[in-house]
Amino acid sequence: MSLHLGRKTFGDIKNAGNVLTEEQVSTLLNEWVLNERLKLHMLQVGGLMGAWAKKVENLSETDAWRWKMAGLLHDADWDQWPDQHCKKIIEHLESLNIDPELIRAIASHGHIHFGVEPVTRMDKMLYAFDELSGLMHAYSLMRPNGYEGMERKGAMKRIKEKTFAANVSREDIRDACERAEVSLETLVDFIIAHQGSFK
Ligand SMILES: [Fe+2]
Repeated sequence: MSLHLGRKTFGDIKNAGNVLTEEQVSTLLNEWVLNERLKLHMLQVGGLMGAWAKKVENLSETDAWRWKMAGLLHDADWDQWPDQHCKKIIEHLESLNIDPELIRAIASHGHIHFGVEPVTRMDKMLYAFDELSGLMHAYSLMRPNGYEGMERKGAMKRIKEKTFAANVSREDIRDACERAEVSLETLVDFIIAHQGSFK
């Protein structure tokens, strides 16, 4: 089964800046994502995207919400329509005339699967946070106090340990850091500092 999208352009430039409200995103997630673990993953990636956009990229509240919305919705179709993963949410957002950069970021979050290269900052950071966030969450679950007191050293050790969260691609993480020009240590520190608050 190929999830290749077979196209390189997404949305319409005349819809630049169009977003959903937080309430609309939450309704969509509740309708489309029945798996609570997957929903938490999207809340975490969305939270990281929004926080990074504001604190590191120094973007406005408006732009930070676009980043956050890309994270919140990037896997929205995975739970109920795995054979249409990425395609379904992209087409849905296009039908709602949503911002093309946001749709593009979702389309490029797994370039090996969807055939769309991460190009913009939003694309690259979504790709970078996606896999690493999941691994860090798995690490938090095995610690008695979760993210509290978590240190970079322990997280780095888990990343090197290939049998830990074995479904998380270390190659994707390495590739994403290189493309985003952000060190793995910086991302790990950022996730330790923020991820615990996204629920
Ligand atoms: Fe994901």
